[in-house]
Amino acid sequence: MKDILNELERRRENARMGGGARRIEAQHKKGKLTARERLDLLLDEDSFEEFDMFVAHRCTEFGMEKDRPAGDGVVTGWGTINGRLVYVFSQDFTVFGGSLSETHAQKICKIMDMAMQNGAPVIGLNDSGGARIQEGVASLAGYAEVFQRNIMASGVVPQISVIMGPCAGGAVYSPAMTDFIFMVKDSSYMFVTGPDVVKTVTNEEVTAEELGGASTHTKKSSVADGAFENDVEALSEVRRLVDFLPLNNRSKVPVRPFFDDPDRVEPALDTLVPDNPNTPYDMKELIFKLADEGDFYEIQEAFAKNIITGFLRLEGRTVGVVANQPMVLAGCLDIDSSRKAARFVRFCDAFEIPLLTLVDVPGFLPGTSQEYGGVIKHGAKLLFAYGEATVPKVTLITRKAYGGAYDVMSSKHLRGDFNYAWPSAEIAVMGAKGATEILYRSELGDAEKIAARTADYEKRFANPFVAAEKGFIDEVITPSASRRRICRAFASLRNKQQQNPWKKHDNIPL
Ligand code: HXC
Repeated sequence: MKDILNELERRRENARMGGGARRIEAQHKKGKLTARERLDLLLDEDSFEEFDMFVAHRCTEFGMEKDRPAGDGVVTGWGTINGRLVYVFSQDFTVFGGSLSETHAQKICKIMDMAMQNGAPVIGLNDSGGARIQEGVASLAGYAEVFQRNIMASGVVPQISVIMGPCAGGAVYSPAMTDFIFMVKDSSYMFVTGPDVVKTVTNEEVTAEELGGASTHTKKSSVADGAFENDVEALSEVRRLVDFLPLNNRSKVPVRPFFDDPDRVEPALDTLVPDNPNTPYDMKELIFKLADEGDFYEIQEAFAKNIITGFLRLEGRTVGVVANQPMVLAGCLDIDSSRKAARFVRFCDAFEIPLLTLVDVPGFLPGTSQEYGGVIKHGAKLLFAYGEATVPKVTLITRKAYGGAYDVMSSKHLRGDFNYAWPSAEIAVMGAKGATEILYRSELGDAEKIAARTADYEKRFANPFVAAEKGFIDEVITPSASRRRICRAFASLRNKQQQNPWKKHDNIPL
């Protein structure tokens, strides 16, 4: 028996060495951790249980039958993050460059199937040269099997991708269909076709970093939701995110212990909105003041900064926040911010995460680039996402809520449950100046008259009370009491039940 146990340990040790000491050293030299070191950091200590450690590929082309490393380039299994179950796969670049073979794909599919069956998130650590070249179409088939599971798991269990090395070709489409993509700065990249193909086809000269590095995907393309300095930071931030998320679409949001008084009064909020309606202020100040312990996890921080999306907790329970940011483009809605927020709202709704919407929006950004880019369709995404969402929805208008953007931003008319406004709110079809210039076009030459008209319009409409009179605003609240009011609102909605009519699926304007 002892011999058998020794043999088991020998085989395990061999599998743990992946592609061998030389390649592990090469991985470290690039500033990257190995697949197993990454899992050690991602999961609670000693919680990892491995599947399929001895799986080997079945390829017999190119002399591959002589080189069949145990595990086949991906470490898979399950473990816990702060005690909560997650399924994981971590590609091992030291084994055939982490490339995906038929069996490598089967290992990933196995843990995805288990994750769906048992209702727990899937976290994929990607570091791969793409399709295993020696396997040809078997590898492509393996990818498609993974894709199909990504699609089936969407909206059932949270799926998180961390890109920690190359991710190229069609391989990018598995992460693309997951809920969140994080990248590691300077050591990861994602593109459909690499710099050499780009040069051949379009004659553009571009580096891998410029084409598909973390900066490109967090700031320009919005493919990625966040970028981190190194492997260690990326993995600890994923742990932090998982703490906010429910395990699946049928479980409630996690409840964490909290040490922050829900009734906490914040006098500074009474002066957050400047007297001059055109002076910006930082909406993040409000978010931090509302959140338990000021803890806010921002999603897509570097993209479309005119809207803020992320998670906070109120009374220990996760809430998704969408907030216009007056500091950037005056907080207007445009193509990018609408897309960013719509996707976030849909994630929250899919996973029963209540939504808090903080509104200071002067309207949609005008211009040919917006119209040609399809702002109508993209803006409609956000409108659609809010309107179909059945999770508890609390909205607070701090200042401007003009025009269509008023309707879009989780208004009463889109089934907002609690629609609050600060006394500084201005809810109108448009700003006073624009309105009077249209209504009194014939008086435009007379500056005094126009000024009087503008002042009159401001007095009559630049406040929350017209909307409050109609019941579109449930209550005008004191800013300093916002945390208390919003906590109480969400607490009252904990058993909310709302259903949309039966349909196969909707037809959101994609
Ligand atoms: C098999 C691969 C491989 C692959 C790398 N390796 N990619 N083996 N299939 N796709 C092996 C290398 O032979 C090498 O083996 C080891 O991994 C490390 O690779 P290096 O090239 O030495 O590393 P590095 O210089 O860091 O370059 C990494 C790389 C490069 C940029 C990823 O290897 C590369 O360009 N690989 C090919 C990428 C590619 O074109 N993939 C197919 C994409 S199309 P040894 O034994 O020397 O250690 C695709 C389609 C998916 O993925 C479609 C889904 C629908």
